[in-house]
Amino acid sequence: MTASKSIGRPYKGQYPQLGARCYIDASAVIVGDIKIGDDSSIWPLVAARGDVNYIRIGARTNIQDGSVLHVTRTGPDDPHGYPLLIGDDVTVGHHCMLHGCIVGNRILVGMSAVVMDGAVIEDDVIIGAGSLVPPGKRLESGHLYVGSPVKKARPLSDEERAFLQKSAANYVYLKNEYLKETQG
Ligand SMILES: CC(C)(COP(=O)(O)OP(=O)(O)OC[C@H]1O[C@@H](n2cnc3c(N)ncnc32)[C@H](O)[C@@H]1OP(=O)(O)O)[C@@H](O)C(=O)NCCC(=O)NCCS
Repeated sequence: MTASKSIGRPYKGQYPQLGARCYIDASAVIVGDIKIGDDSSIWPLVAARGDVNYIRIGARTNIQDGSVLHVTRTGPDDPHGYPLLIGDDVTVGHHCMLHGCIVGNRILVGMSAVVMDGAVIEDDVIIGAGSLVPPGKRLESGHLYVGSPVKKARPLSDEERAFLQKSAANYVYLKNEYLKETQG
């Protein structure tokens, strides 16, 4: 990440930090210890709270409308708690809940999916719309997962793998159009 501009709201004096050319919709609420990589975008009504732990979002990642990002605090039995780590070229569909989990690179999190504490999504995965990834579950690279709780459905096709990168690129294009609106 090149760096970095403070934005959003502080928590304990710490503001979210943005890389270059990010688009953050005016209605999104982003608070505290959050770092967002270059060319990423946060769409209307997203709530992201880096208060009791931290949130990291990579480059060219989009978090779509109405999604909620949060974390779990450290405790006596768990010195690390659960931060939320999201990689590069990730598409998080509308109305998702990502809580204290690790999301790799080139992932599509389908609309309204829920990913819980300690879950790990390896690189190049599609999570179907409406799926639930339970606490601590690991999703294996290169596969489609669907259902509540999720089950491995099948390996991704070459077209689907290519689509993961394309989806992220589409959103980089779209956020650039939105940046033109806000920057005149
Ligand atoms: C899962 C998904 C990738 C489609 O996969 P697919 O293998 O092409 O699925 P198909 O449409 O051929 O359906 C295969 C079966 O899975 C079921 N299915 C499809 N999507 C499903 C989902 N999200 N959860 C559970 N089952 C699903 C279908 O009903 C069908 O069931 P059947 O065999 O009993 O009839 C797609 O439905 C999806 O959820 N995409 C996410 C899109 C999204 O949210 N994008 C972000 C917003 S931009």
